[in-house]
Amino acid sequence: MLRRLHSEQPASFAFTPDNQAWAEAQITKYPEGRQASAIIPLLWRAQEQEGWLTRPAIEAVADMLGMAYMRALEVASFYFMFQLQPVGSVAHIQICGTTSCMICGAEDLVAVCKEKIAAKPHTLSADGKLSWEEVECLGACANAPMAQIGKDYYEDLTAERFGEILDELVAGKVPVPGPQNGRYAAEPKSGLTSLTDFESGRHEYNASVQLATDIGDTVKRIDGTEVPLLHPWGDAGGRPQSQAKAANEAVAPSRAAAEAAPKPADAPKPEDTSVIKPSTELAGEAELAARKGTWKYAKATTAQQVEKEDAASAAPVAEGPGTKPETLSEARDGKGDDLKRIKGIGPKLAALCNRLGFFHFDQIANWTADEVAWVDQNLEGFKGRVTRDNWVEQAKTLASGGETEFSARVKKGDVYDK
Ligand code: FES
Repeated sequence: MLRRLHSEQPASFAFTPDNQAWAEAQITKYPEGRQASAIIPLLWRAQEQEGWLTRPAIEAVADMLGMAYMRALEVASFYFMFQLQPVGSVAHIQICGTTSCMICGAEDLVAVCKEKIAAKPHTLSADGKLSWEEVECLGACANAPMAQIGKDYYEDLTAERFGEILDELVAGKVPVPGPQNGRYAAEPKSGLTSLTDFESGRHEYNASVQLATDIGDTVKRIDGTEVPLLHPWGDAGGRPQSQAKAANEAVAPSRAAAEAAPKPADAPKPEDTSVIKPSTELAGEAELAARKGTWKYAKATTAQQVEKEDAASAAPVAEGPGTKPETLSEARDGKGDDLKRIKGIGPKLAALCNRLGFFHFDQIANWTADEVAWVDQNLEGFKGRVTRDNWVEQAKTLASGGETEFSARVKKGDVYDK
């Protein structure tokens, strides 16, 4: 198939404001001078917004990344995931035609596409609502035959059920994705034969389908409002590029001071200090810290010393937006809650929380959005985890004596410290 720009193109392209903010945030993932590395996610978002990749969209992305239009077109025309011609206004259907799906009935699904959409792939249906193509294996072979429709997989299809799905889409409905024969996920058709505990307490749908139904973005054109914009990899403030420059300039003096501080090369090497490696984790932290020039660990000689100095050390320096929540210098009554019962907090994060002055579920449960922003930015190496894993809601449940699905599994011993 020739991959070239379509003969008819719209006059212009612009990201929606939310998609623009998302795109700018993606660019901050890459070092200065390497912004072109963001081309695939940006082209992909442009396609999700418009349905297909237009010439103005390719050029707009190239402009954002400071690339020649030709370089951007090379990427867009190389990867088959980019649609260079208009697709159905409701959905573009991708039928897997590879071995597992082929022997389980993919050809019947293609026949349905030919009958209900258009005789040839990459052609719009008469009402312009659907288009289709055959693609290579989509990695859901255990649920063959299958089709990707919009952003989701419809699996365990029969020609009859697939025809119904197309009719529902044309009628403005979005059928629930996932297995279409009653299977939950990819377990044996006769049911689970092991790990049967997981039959109980599960969501209505498997994780992928649950997300699809919760977010509701299966065939929706993505405008950036579907989920909150998170970019915890960002600069000290986690801000997109448009704001990061000003922020970088503002912190320049402290950065200069940091650069003047002792460098890892100046610090004694771990092997020179006879660090006794009490556990893999502590040893790893000691070596990492020494490489970073963290004197505390490099000088420590025993596990007890590391622990003692850890407890006595000041909390990491507060930087970034938000308001610092109230902290404690030590756990009330000398005993903190087991923060690892919050999903997303492992031993290292729990220790970091303690160093920051957080020991109890009720402390976390009472954080405001502004305080969450502060903590998210000050979890060295774990930025953004509070929001990502919704600590506050989990902590509310735990502080009131309840259990979350995760904490119940911890209690039962199904989850182990890593
Ligand atoms: S063969 Fe169809 S998903 Fe793998």
